[in-house]
Amino acid sequence: MNLSDISANRVACGHNTRSAPILPRPSLEFTPETEAALAGLYARLRDVITPQDWRVHAPYIRAINDLKKQRNAVLLAHNYMTPEIFHTVADFAGDSLALAREAARSDADVIVQAGVHFMAETSKILNPGKMVLIPDQQAGCSLADSITAADVRRLREKYPGVPIVTYINTSADVKAECDITCTSANAVQVVEAMAREYDSREVLLIPDEFLAQNVAGQTDVTVLTWKGHCEVHERFTGPQMRSFRNAEPEMKIIAHPECPPDVLDEADFSGSTSGMINWVQKHQPEKVMLVTECSMSDNIAVENPDVKFIRPCNLCPHMKRITLPAILDSLLELKDEVCIDPEIAAAARKPIERMINLDH
Ligand code: 13P
Ligand code: SF4
Repeated sequence: MNLSDISANRVACGHNTRSAPILPRPSLEFTPETEAALAGLYARLRDVITPQDWRVHAPYIRAINDLKKQRNAVLLAHNYMTPEIFHTVADFAGDSLALAREAARSDADVIVQAGVHFMAETSKILNPGKMVLIPDQQAGCSLADSITAADVRRLREKYPGVPIVTYINTSADVKAECDITCTSANAVQVVEAMAREYDSREVLLIPDEFLAQNVAGQTDVTVLTWKGHCEVHERFTGPQMRSFRNAEPEMKIIAHPECPPDVLDEADFSGSTSGMINWVQKHQPEKVMLVTECSMSDNIAVENPDVKFIRPCNLCPHMKRITLPAILDSLLELKDEVCIDPEIAAAARKPIERMINLDH
């Protein structure tokens, strides 16, 4: 992308950023100076990043941390980022709920979202005047792709008076049609609050069918849903869990609530990605299997050297589009800016803020 394209794109987003300084592309050589400057950091990460990979990553890490200062940018990273992002360039790392809360309180000029597109949209919706960048526009989500705003309007007609809770893993257009958002960290609480507020025995929780089934198992509210699935978590099965359990009887199994219910039936704990991290930190199991995306085990292993992580895991191809080179380009060229129609953004802000306020 050349600079005139960037300016055109930003003007379309409401930013006249022609005045933003053009910053020179930094050298990406692994010099003795870079090695020495980052030696302390590498000492923490040597179990999860090989020396060969560190030679490649280290110059990017230095350059990105410099660029963030020059741009007054903050980098918000999801827990599924790879360790060389999660532990070195993230200013804040967390689950979807924590990222939304952090975005709401950010005072940086630029937010770089190291995560998938719906997360960057959430940051933009909460910060309409700021520049929100996603290092790869193609970083999508199978749940967000499973439902459209028109689908939600049809559900409204079919279930009049039933509150609609949307998982935060949806587009801004979908959120704009819903009453409140939820995340994996607060789904039960949000569903029960909506049932009370609307005096309804039924609540629609869309679009993740498995999350809805798992929530239904923890409440008396009747939870109606949609047929969306997470392509990472739907691949785990109950029989698979039982065979791992038989092979390693002392191992703890902790699973994300986007997994099918028969997976959660076999789990010792289920929670959001941050809930899973906290559980491992608190319980320090000898052996644990995190039934979720692969980077989670790598990221947690750094701070929990006594825990053995058993690693059948699945990669999220969308999260893995976010790399150090893509983050560097994003900060240098101020791309790709997340732009949302202001009317849609205003409508989508209400259900997100309702969740954030409920949560406090
Ligand atoms: P968390 O909110 O638990 O981090 O989940 C987000 C996600 O995309 C999991 O697949
Ligand atoms: Fe979406 Fe699943 Fe990837 Fe999370 S892990 S971003 S829910 S596809």
